[in-house]
Amino acid sequence: MENQRIAVIGAGQMGSGIAQVAAEAGYRVILHDIAPDFVRNGMSRIDKALSSQVQKGKIDEEKKRGVLSRIQGTVSYDEARDASLIVEAVFEDADVKTKIFSALDEICRPETVFATNTSSIQVTRLAASVKRADRFIGIHFFNPPQVMRLVEIIPGLKTSPETVLQARQFVQSLKKESVLAKDVPGFLVNRINAALRLEAYNCLLEGVASVEDIDKALKLALGHPMGPFELADFVGLDVGLNVLKTLHDGYKDPKWRPSLLLEKLVLSGDLGRKTGKGWYDYTSGQKTPRTDVQF
Ligand code: 3HC
Repeated sequence: MENQRIAVIGAGQMGSGIAQVAAEAGYRVILHDIAPDFVRNGMSRIDKALSSQVQKGKIDEEKKRGVLSRIQGTVSYDEARDASLIVEAVFEDADVKTKIFSALDEICRPETVFATNTSSIQVTRLAASVKRADRFIGIHFFNPPQVMRLVEIIPGLKTSPETVLQARQFVQSLKKESVLAKDVPGFLVNRINAALRLEAYNCLLEGVASVEDIDKALKLALGHPMGPFELADFVGLDVGLNVLKTLHDGYKDPKWRPSLLLEKLVLSGDLGRKTGKGWYDYTSGQKTPRTDVQF
């Protein structure tokens, strides 16, 4: 594994987390983004996560240095040329993703497997942008990738059984579990989670309970680590809205219609924790109920 090189495209929250997990498992990792600042931010996120493990006594400084030394940040695709696996984890824009894949298709070895971490764009659609649709697959991590144990494996229409096996072995080498899901809008987890989230929005709109009480109920009654509103803020309201739009467009079923309230929040620029406000207010450094808007 030490000689295996993987390239993670996109150094945001997901990409940097995936790069960290892969480096921890012994891979040499190329972490790519389009601007040096984005790469630096991704690397410092990894540094911070590893330092927190050192502080907790879970790893020592030497281990941290070892993991960091296996990750090379870059703004050039050239470094990805020899990778055995590409994991794309950029934001959810099909055009951006297909451009990245077609560029890499030109320079990577024919046997290199291409994977997308898309949360809901169909894998078959992205696979159509490369000449290696048989070696193209969805490998979908959950946020935070360092912590969540599951990875969905989503074969596209033309993905070969060998590629599925390679993806499963890769996930296993990261000490994570995988499930196989069909290439349908939302795949498995986001589809089920979207249904739950929509019902939470309906309950809020109908005045059944407040944001805080809905979250409290699902945490204490069903054992969810976060309630649906808390989780939506954590993942990003824009990401959650995109998932609903994909389900709505994909299934052509009104049951997936995105909540107007959610759309309004996204339009207002309140995208959750990352902007300081979403279903909750984080501007004080703590999660507090919003007092500036009425849901
Ligand atoms: N990055 C790295 N590590 C993190 C982290 C982060 N952002 N957040 C928490 N952690 C680590 C902590 O360091 C800690 O590690 P330790 O056990 O080694 O000490 C561990 O996770 C637990 O963290 P905390 O004690 O600080 O907090 P919690 O116990 O509340 O756990 C949580 C935080 C893991 C985020 C937990 O609340 C949780 O599981 N929430 C649900 C997350 C979830 O559902 N994710 C899926 C979202 S859907 C998705 O990603 C799909 C996409 O397509 C939209």
